[in-house]
Amino acid sequence: MKVKLYNGYGWKSLGPGRAPLRCPKKTGFIVLLTSVFLLTTITYISEYLLKTAVFPDTLYKKVLNQIHSYYVVPEFLSASGNQNILAPDGVQNSPTQIPIKTTDIPIYHHVAHPSNYHFILNEPDKCSQWDPFLVFMVPVAPHDVAARNAIRSTWGNESSVQGKAVLTLFLVGLSGGAEAQQQLKEESRQHRDLLQSDFVDSYFNLTIKTMVIMDWLATRCPQATYAMKVDSDMFINPENLMSLLLSPNTPRENYITGYLMLDRPVVRDKSSKWYVAEELYPEQKYPTYLQGMGYVFSNDLPEKIVEISKEVKPFNIEDAYVGACLKQLGVAPLSPPDPSQFRDYMWQYNREDFLKVITTILRSPQQLIDIWKDVKSPIKQIKLE
Ligand SMILES: *[C@@H]1O[C@H](CO)[C@@H](O)[C@H](O)[C@H]1NC(C)=O
Ligand SMILES: *[C@@H]1O[C@H](CO)[C@@H](O)[C@H](O)[C@H]1NC(C)=O
Repeated sequence: MKVKLYNGYGWKSLGPGRAPLRCPKKTGFIVLLTSVFLLTTITYISEYLLKTAVFPDTLYKKVLNQIHSYYVVPEFLSASGNQNILAPDGVQNSPTQIPIKTTDIPIYHHVAHPSNYHFILNEPDKCSQWDPFLVFMVPVAPHDVAARNAIRSTWGNESSVQGKAVLTLFLVGLSGGAEAQQQLKEESRQHRDLLQSDFVDSYFNLTIKTMVIMDWLATRCPQATYAMKVDSDMFINPENLMSLLLSPNTPRENYITGYLMLDRPVVRDKSSKWYVAEELYPEQKYPTYLQGMGYVFSNDLPEKIVEISKEVKPFNIEDAYVGACLKQLGVAPLSPPDPSQFRDYMWQYNREDFLKVITTILRSPQQLIDIWKDVKSPIKQIKLE
């Protein structure tokens, strides 16, 4: 310190020759400077002591904050749809995450993953026997035998289209009651086209249904090239679909197409059947997805979707949820070459239109039977309401 003061204030410049004369003054100056230095030091130290006196309070706050953020982490993770979350079996898929107890994760993180469900009715060898190029997977309510029969007698009965094997299977959840279950068993024995899984079959649970379909395709039907998830109230023109799939421009991997839903807002009106709670899906818009009535995909996707779904928090809108999984996978849903082939409603019947479409929504099983008859008949045009 002293050396620094000496050099810094240029005492050397005073010169040794004049030193004896100025000696008392010099000593006084040194004393003064030392006092100032000491005073400064004392002030500094006392201030420091004062600071340390408040430090425990700061430390206390910091500790509290850390405890608090530990507890809000699970909430934050659950609030952001694309964060890694726990796998259904409680195994963490990212070692860099802050450890979270499984008990902190609400049940909906697990509920849609197909590993939670088991088949009661199954056709485990159907695909290895049939070797289909294309599989129609139809989610349907257990009691809706009319819809299944209409499909069985129309587009679901097309076993070969343009020389390619086609298979149609139905998926139901749990039916209510022993009698209904007995009827399903009988129907399964008769047609060998029913799959039944042990989740509660309801509109709210359609995401589970779709994920079980994906799981079945991934595990029981990997040999198929394409699959289509199609609702039970749909018209399908298998010829047109096959032409699309056999086109050299249609990819056989990471491909999914249908009626494109762009920039769709999440419905927050509690009275709507599409209502989604903010806790389930906090963002205001969905990623691009394909409308659930009927979307076609290359059959490499089901396995990828089932796997990535461990990281994507489920919500009750099945098609938008598949969209969220695709986004996480980095697979972009594509618009079909002719978007008018995937229609929602056609307001009046026109045979020419049905000859051109791939799929459109119908009003009843009987309408499917009538329209199919007309579309397949050589010329005659029927009149429908
Ligand atoms: C399916 O088509 C075949 C002819 O290819 C026909 O014999 C059979 O009755 C049809 N099945 C149904 C359920 O309509
Ligand atoms: C959805 O399915 C699960 C599993 O079977 C069941 O626990 C739950 O009650 C179902 N939810 C609704 C709303 O049907």
